[in-house]
Amino acid sequence: MKNLKCPARGNGDSNQTHRTLSARFNSCAVLGIFLLLLLSACGGTSYAEGERLYKTHCANCHMDDGVGLSALIPPLAGSDFLAAERERLPCILRHGLKDTIQVNGRQFAEEMPGVPTLSAVHVTNILNFINHNWGNQQPPYRLDEVERLLEQCE
Ligand code: HEC
Repeated sequence: MKNLKCPARGNGDSNQTHRTLSARFNSCAVLGIFLLLLLSACGGTSYAEGERLYKTHCANCHMDDGVGLSALIPPLAGSDFLAAERERLPCILRHGLKDTIQVNGRQFAEEMPGVPTLSAVHVTNILNFINHNWGNQQPPYRLDEVERLLEQCE
């Protein structure tokens, strides 16, 4: 830790006491932690978590590449449902869906089970993983948006 150097602030305090040194070290540590948080917030770990959760809870039916399964399971890759029903998706992930829906002009009517144990963070990460994969380019969900939508599930 002795070698850790932070850029000088240029405030002209040339007589560095132990106190200013440790203050500098602290501000370095805080900066480091902040950068680490920023990095994970930018998607690194949350995207990886979304992928992991997708593989655990969704890929069995929707397949690893999101293509679905013939007339039984609708595709997520290139699905027009993602944009059309954006506000419903968090509740569908948590509580499932038993409906007759149209995806890319095709009709689907099998039942999807929900995963009630998914937290709002999990739901956000899974949806953002789907939204940025397989050619999908939907705007990302924010956590507070997903929390609000989950509160309104019927
Ligand atoms: C047991 C199979 C199964 C599992 C597991 C499953 N789904 Fe589904 N999913 C379906 C079926 C069937 C439908 C269509 C439901 C209907 O017609 O009411 C569907 C519909 C959807 C839709 C809306 C239609 C579309 O294709 O855009 C989304 C989004 C979706 N699922 C995402 C997920 C996600 C994310 C997971 C994991 C958390 C998941 N599903 C897990 C079978 C499944």
